Amino acid sequence: MARSIKTKTPAKKVPRRWRTEVERVLITEGQIARRILLMARKIERDFRGREMVVVSVLNGTVMFLADLIRHLSLPLRLDFMGVSSYGAGTESGDLVFTKELRLDVRGRDVLLVDDILDTGKTMSRVLPKIQALKPRRIKICVLLDKPGRRTEDVGADYVGFKIPDFFVVGYGLDFAERYRNLPFVGVLHPHIYEQRCERVNRPSLNP
Ligand code: PRP
Repeated sequence: MARSIKTKTPAKKVPRRWRTEVERVLITEGQIARRILLMARKIERDFRGREMVVVSVLNGTVMFLADLIRHLSLPLRLDFMGVSSYGAGTESGDLVFTKELRLDVRGRDVLLVDDILDTGKTMSRVLPKIQALKPRRIKICVLLDKPGRRTEDVGADYVGFKIPDFFVVGYGLDFAERYRNLPFVGVLHPHIYEQRCERVNRPSLNP
């Protein structure tokens, strides 16, 4: 069962360095670490005795992936699929594949890992691509799930945290390629993305 994040619990303080950009800490480092350990235990049970290939969707998944797989005491192979949405805004736009799989997943058990399931557009494009390679089965694992934003009929088998529709950054998640290095998941101050959208909508202000 995914943990639902309570929006009313007193927030842990945002580190001073990030306070002007990050409104609040939504999920702490400690909460993430504890949750990942539980997810890893469940995945281990489900994949025991199988040839496992972990397929990670770049780029936002890097921190989650690294922490998850170090807790998986199973023989596994690792590969990456590069997918990105165009633009630097807050909406999931058109998708481009920037890297294809190199490993053969035919007849294998695939664990598909992503940082967040939002509209579901990424997953609904990635899934058929991997299915076409004829794996034995595919299980989807995400750290964050925003069910309120879903437009595609796709869900995950392993979910770290269900979250409300906040614009979140950190722990691999970015806004305009920034904030991936935050060790926690935080809510971005609206003024950060509003500023950006204003600039994008008024090209004369772009440098
Ligand atoms: C983010 C995230 C997921 C996707 C989820 O990727 O890493 O892959 O959006 O959104 P969706 O469910 O609405 O499709 P993004 O395209 O921003 O690239 P990134 O991983 O490099 O940050």
